[in-house]
Amino acid sequence: MPSNRDTEIPRLLLDWYKKNKRDLPWRKTRDPYRTWVAEVLLQQTRVDTVIPYYERFLKRFPDVRALARARVDDVLKAWEGLGYYSRARQLHEAAGVVVKKFGGTIPEEMEDLRKLPGVGAYTAGAILSIAFGRRFAAVDGNVIRVIARLFAIEDPVDGSTAKNRIGAIAERLVPASEPGHYNQALMDLGSGICTPRSPACPACPLAAACRARKKGNQESIPAKKKAAAVPHREAAVAVIRNDRGEILLVKRPGRGLLGGLWSFPGGFLKEGDAPSAGLRRSLREELALKAIPGREMFSVEHGYSHFSVTVHVFPCRIRGAIPDSGGDVQLRWVGITGISRLAVSRLEKKILKALPSCKKPLP
Ligand code: ADE
Repeated sequence: MPSNRDTEIPRLLLDWYKKNKRDLPWRKTRDPYRTWVAEVLLQQTRVDTVIPYYERFLKRFPDVRALARARVDDVLKAWEGLGYYSRARQLHEAAGVVVKKFGGTIPEEMEDLRKLPGVGAYTAGAILSIAFGRRFAAVDGNVIRVIARLFAIEDPVDGSTAKNRIGAIAERLVPASEPGHYNQALMDLGSGICTPRSPACPACPLAAACRARKKGNQESIPAKKKAAAVPHREAAVAVIRNDRGEILLVKRPGRGLLGGLWSFPGGFLKEGDAPSAGLRRSLREELALKAIPGREMFSVEHGYSHFSVTVHVFPCRIRGAIPDSGGDVQLRWVGITGISRLAVSRLEKKILKALPSCKKPLP
């Protein structure tokens, strides 16, 4: 049930934000392109990590036309190390749509924004409220937590009942004036005060309105359904060198995990595969390479959001010619300086760092 206290939430929050807001580079502008880039970078990524990427990205691609004109490889290079690379591919693709369909002007209507690749309800709400001053909510994980506590919503927030309820409350609360500041105030409150563990309730401007605080159950909200264990996988990759000391890399096909990035040739093991046999099989099946793996050099551990992986690394010789790369797959011999110009994932960087002759830090 809404109460009188609820109507005070936006004003209390905006007053608090004026005094306490974080000084962040994307808050110095209302340019919708910059807001959009910031919000995409900030998905699943911490503010401190994003700041240098945001500044570099905008230097390299200062407006939507520059981004649309760029090669996707250069966009991925600018994204290198951030993970979730489909964000970069989709942002680039969406910039092309904005130029072609909207004459280079970022649309101001929810329906038009939502049709752009990679723009979901959160990103569209953030752009519309922050850059255009429109009254839309932008509900991310922080906002879900704040609202679940404010309204003492005890159902698991990853279930549809709580999700729908939180979404409806979030939309109702957004004020007509300064919706962008209000949305960012909620984000700041969620990341600095209404934190997942040990929230700083005495410092919270909304403490008097908070039903969870009244009940004393703020630490057990938001509840989540029991998370499934993250699966673990095994993979094997080959370090194949030529006489010049260059290494053979393969460019992953466009859209899958790490699509468009360069990696060591190899693949996941199947149940019962010994690493070196699994490596031989995947090199044969995926790249038509006849490989002779040597002794395993080392293995590296890596975690993604939905699985973790142990990667066994083998020196390899190739029997016969390296086939011409065709179709989706590209193979390339790369020297150590050449590697630093290609977009590679964090996993590849770990492997490169551990390779005996590649200790030089990669930029
Ligand atoms: N997280 C997502 N968007 C944000 C923003 N605009 N400011 C701070 N943190 C955020």
